[in-house]
Amino acid sequence: MRLVFMGAPGSGKGTQSLVLSNHLKVPQISTGDMLREAVSTGSLGRGFSELMEAGGLVPDDAMVSLVERRTAALDARGGFLLDGFPRTMGQAVALDGILAARNQSLTSVIVLEVATELLVERACLRRTDKRTGQIYHLKYKPPPAGADLAHRSDDFEEVVRARLEVYSAVTAELVPYYDDLGLLAKVDGVGSVADVSSRVLALVDQMMARKRPS
Ligand code: AP5
Repeated sequence: MRLVFMGAPGSGKGTQSLVLSNHLKVPQISTGDMLREAVSTGSLGRGFSELMEAGGLVPDDAMVSLVERRTAALDARGGFLLDGFPRTMGQAVALDGILAARNQSLTSVIVLEVATELLVERACLRRTDKRTGQIYHLKYKPPPAGADLAHRSDDFEEVVRARLEVYSAVTAELVPYYDDLGLLAKVDGVGSVADVSSRVLALVDQMMARKRPS
């Protein structure tokens, strides 16, 4: 399975792709996590962390080479879940090319659909455990006592709204692109984490059943 998880900021891509990664035993590849890791080690190109803090997108060439390398790693040979990539038409076309050169293709693109006001609340109240990387939400998934929590610098309302605008203006055009290719699967991302997970798992199990020879 080579899947892409799409959805606006806060739609639940990270949460659901982690659940699915455990279910399918393939790696979750989150470009946001990779970039934050690079910021923390100082290995990210100059100016990129400022772009992220303002809610903008890191340039395509940097993102494409990051994903090209990561998807070629040994643990991704049997499949992967891309969380947050591609986000531009340039990235989508580059991904098609990378996979075609390996005689591979995408299995499906899952889009999580959530209303804007809920997205703002989800992102602004998100906290991440610095030690485990576990994602919590102050209202919907409260962290345990003693968790060492980080509040992402792009999870403040003004920046969240800027990220949502970038999603509508740039990333949303990938929805009709993948629909035309017959790869798009929309999932209602509203409801508890467990409810959304059951929808995602049911969809992926159907895909796997269709791929299995009868
Ligand atoms: P990235 O980290 O990918 O951020 P994002 O796409 O904006 O998505 P989020 O991480 O905000 O949300 P999510 O959908 O993963 O939701 P989550 O599961 O955490 O990217 C950050 C930045 O990096 C970008 O802005 C850009 O600058 C750069 N970047 C990354 N990739 C790039 C690319 N390809 N090209 C260029 N630049 C790139 O859930 C959110 C919260 O809601 C959590 O608290 C969670 O607990 C809660 N929650 C989840 N599901 C539910 C539910 N069903 N009910 C209630 N609460 C829920």
